[in-house]
Amino acid sequence: MMTDETLKKNLPIGVFDSGVGGFTVVRALRKYLPGENIIYLGDTARVPYGTKSPETVIRYSINNAKFLDSLGIKLLVVACNTASAHSITALRDNFNIPVVGVIEPGARAAVKNTISGNVGVIGTRGTIESHAYETHIREKSVSTVTTGGIPCPLFVPLAEEGWIEGEIPEKTAVHYMNELKKVIPEMDTLVLGCTHYPLLKKIISEAALKVFEREIKLIDSGVSASYVIEEILREKELFNDNSSGGTLDTYVTDTSRISEIGELFLGEPLSNVQRVDI
Ligand code: DGL
Repeated sequence: MMTDETLKKNLPIGVFDSGVGGFTVVRALRKYLPGENIIYLGDTARVPYGTKSPETVIRYSINNAKFLDSLGIKLLVVACNTASAHSITALRDNFNIPVVGVIEPGARAAVKNTISGNVGVIGTRGTIESHAYETHIREKSVSTVTTGGIPCPLFVPLAEEGWIEGEIPEKTAVHYMNELKKVIPEMDTLVLGCTHYPLLKKIISEAALKVFEREIKLIDSGVSASYVIEEILREKELFNDNSSGGTLDTYVTDTSRISEIGELFLGEPLSNVQRVDI
C-alpha cells in the first residue's frame, strides 16, 4: 500500500512554456532528476511570448498554471524566460505550490561563475526589456557584478528550423556578440536567457571566443533551474528517486509540427502528446 508520502512524491512536476522551447528545460530535468514525473504544457497556439506585452504574458501564464494545477502537480516550473521575467510574482501570489522560474537560478549561477565580475545576458526582447536578469544578478552579487544584455530575436527561428550550424547562424551569432561587446566589453560569463539558445550553444560559444578573444562561460538557465528544483523538492521531502524513471506527458494548444520540432529540443522521442483548449 502506498503511503501519503509516496503519493505526494509521485505527483508530477508541471512545466509550462510558450511553445516547444521549454523542452530544453525538460531535457535538463530528465537528465538531473530522472525519477520525476513531468507534465509539460506548450502554449503553441499563442507562441511567441517574447514579443508580447507583460500584461498579456502574465494573463497567459496564469492560464497555463491553472491548467497544470488542475491536474495535481507538486511544483510548477516556468520554463519560458519571458514568462519567468514577467509573471513569477503573479504566479507565486496565485498558486499554493512552489513556483520556480529560470531567471533566479540563471542569475545565481552567473554570479557564482564570473571571475571578472562582468556578466552578459541574451534573450527575447521581452526578457531583456524587463531587466529581470540584471535585477537578480545585481541583487545576488550585492551590486559587485556589472551586467548588461541585448535581445537576439533571430536565434528563435534559427533554432526552430534546426539551423544550428553553418554560415547564416554563425554570422548571426558574430553580429550579436559584436553588439553585446558594446554593452559589456569585459564579459567572461554569458547567460543564455531564452529556451531556444541551448541548441545554439556551439555557435554562440565560438562567436563569443572570436569577438571577445577569450573563453566565455555559457550559463544554461534550464540546467541551473534543475539544481534549484532538486534543492526545493529535497527540502520539502517531495523528491522522487524512482529508479525505473519518470514519465513525461505533453499537452500543447496547437499540434502543428510538434513532433518534429519538439524532439529536436527534447532530444528524445516524443510520445503522449495531447492537444488541449485552455
Ligand atoms: N520561450 C521563450 C523564452 O524563453 C522564447 C520563445 C518565445 O518568444 O515565446 O523567452
